Amino acid sequence: MPEYFTTQSSFHVALIMDGNGRWATGRGLPRLAGHRRGADSVRRVIEASPGLGITDLTVYAFSSDNWKRPEAEVRGLMTLLSQYLRREVANCVRNGVRLSAIGRRDRLAPELLALIEDAETRTAPCNRVHVRIALDYSSRDALLHAAETCASNGQWSRSAFSAALPAPDVDLLVRTAGEKRLSDFLLWECAYAEFLFVEKTWPEFTGADLAAAVTEFRSRTRRFGALPAA
Ligand code: IPE
Ligand code: IPE
Ligand code: MG
Repeated sequence: MPEYFTTQSSFHVALIMDGNGRWATGRGLPRLAGHRRGADSVRRVIEASPGLGITDLTVYAFSSDNWKRPEAEVRGLMTLLSQYLRREVANCVRNGVRLSAIGRRDRLAPELLALIEDAETRTAPCNRVHVRIALDYSSRDALLHAAETCASNGQWSRSAFSAALPAPDVDLLVRTAGEKRLSDFLLWECAYAEFLFVEKTWPEFTGADLAAAVTEFRSRTRRFGALPAA
């Protein structure tokens, strides 16, 4: 059994799924065709995750700043998300995949919200991997919300603050399509994350690419401010 199955009880990988638009326009296709292919990549990485020892996978599907995009693209993305949930929840239940959404819910269409809640309820007992879909997500907003929670409970420890956030600390963050920024994703949770930036666009990203990312992660020495073990 690979070492990483035995040395770590949780392993959180976060993915900034970028480059759908460039994948499509580079092929003379509408941007939405890239988003559609991107949904296939999501399915592939979820399938690959348990075999790589990943216990938590957070995927950035739609940022709170993505509302600035043209209405037709936003609508297309929301439709794809609904289709994805309609198609995939039964597979997730079969494969032990727990699905949750993180981010604001009050701006989502009621039909999409109902699909999310149904997915969360049906996959709640699943425990092979916990997939969090970041949707209308802003890390700065999540931090403000956590601060409000801590204030109302009168608890200000680091652990209380972390517990008020919707995702655990990140071990490995991967961003596709060559951009090297966080774009308001998991700012607190990435305090000691390892970062990997890959050139491939998201629709090109496969389970093998995720495996390669995990191998790269395993080759790094994490120090957390201390000295590496002798
Ligand atoms: C990522 O791909 C998907 C979302 C942000 C919803 P983009 O749509 O950002 O693709 P590029 O960056 O324009 O190529
Ligand atoms: C970040 O990608 C959001 C998602 C992948 C959903 P963007 O494409 O929106 O980020 P910027 O605008 O390039 O920073
Ligand atoms: Mg982008």
